[in-house]
Amino acid sequence: MITKNIHRAIEQLKRDELVSIPTETVYGLAGNAYSSMAIKKIFELKQRPFHNPLIVHIKSIDYLNQVASNIPPLALKLAENFWPGPLTLVLKKQSTIPEIVTSGKDTVAIRMPNHPLTLSLLQELDFPLAAPSANPFGSISPTNAKHVFDYFGDELEVILDGGNCEHGIESTIIGFENDQYPILYRYGTITVSEIEDIIGKVKISTSNNSDPIAPGMLSRHYAPQTKTILTDNVYEFIESLENQKIGILSFNNPVSHKNILHQEVLSPSGNLYEATKNLYAAMHRLDKNKLDIIIAERFPDKGLGKTINDKLERASK
Ligand code: TXA
Ligand code: MG
Repeated sequence: MITKNIHRAIEQLKRDELVSIPTETVYGLAGNAYSSMAIKKIFELKQRPFHNPLIVHIKSIDYLNQVASNIPPLALKLAENFWPGPLTLVLKKQSTIPEIVTSGKDTVAIRMPNHPLTLSLLQELDFPLAAPSANPFGSISPTNAKHVFDYFGDELEVILDGGNCEHGIESTIIGFENDQYPILYRYGTITVSEIEDIIGKVKISTSNNSDPIAPGMLSRHYAPQTKTILTDNVYEFIESLENQKIGILSFNNPVSHKNILHQEVLSPSGNLYEATKNLYAAMHRLDKNKLDIIIAERFPDKGLGKTINDKLERASK
């Protein structure tokens, strides 16, 4: 059920049960990160392959030492600049973290989320929370409590309601090659240039399906059920279709055509931040309209526009 009562969440988590938690990025499906039994339930409920590791959510920068070791100075610098916030760091793991969390890797993904409800929850617990996004594997991530309920219904005893997610898109993931050189594993809310302003040049990972270091990099992901395509020229694409029920996902300009049944303009004023925040909720709405096709317009390919294009490309595979 959907509730604002963190005591119910605490009870569940202490019994190795799962709770959906709000964060500033998307809603998570959380369990005790130190309990293999709780973590197994996350993989099962999400139908997530066991080779796809989870993110561990911690309550403070000080807690980092409990879950990670050999922390590179650049990682600490990033944590100090961006935490609590939408940045995940992949670091050498401590033995406290069970293998099931990291899919057997010797590294663990960690972040300190920035949502008041979830931060107070973490403060009340003597363990961190492992949490992937609260959606069945491969589908669109949830950005409000209702999205989570629509996916899991009463299979989840507690969905903590923290309103609409402030950022609406997953955290940016940074790792360190040879424990030293920063590498981007997943585009997210914090842009590469914001990170480079703090620590200098960051390499971009080119991993793909054959080597899913960060399976947020899996080619098909964040995907609506409805066939989705991404194009530079919406009008031209519409002209190539005959008599189909069309949905449109565009940045700032509405499109007019008789076959368009549902349209989502992500930011009429052309603000990339606002567009990011609205992206998944718009995809959820489009997907509910029994359309034949969703046509998404490619965004300007810089900053957050790059992040949105990355998600849209994976949604359209
Ligand atoms: O914003 C977020 O990060 C949200 C909220 C709930 O915190 N969580 C999220 O989790 O997006 P999830 O499971 O959907 O994505 C976790 C990503 C996956 O792409 C996973 O492969 C990557 O983190 N990851 C986890 N551990 C890793 C590791 N040791 N090395 C590389 N990538 C890792
Ligand atoms: Mg996810």
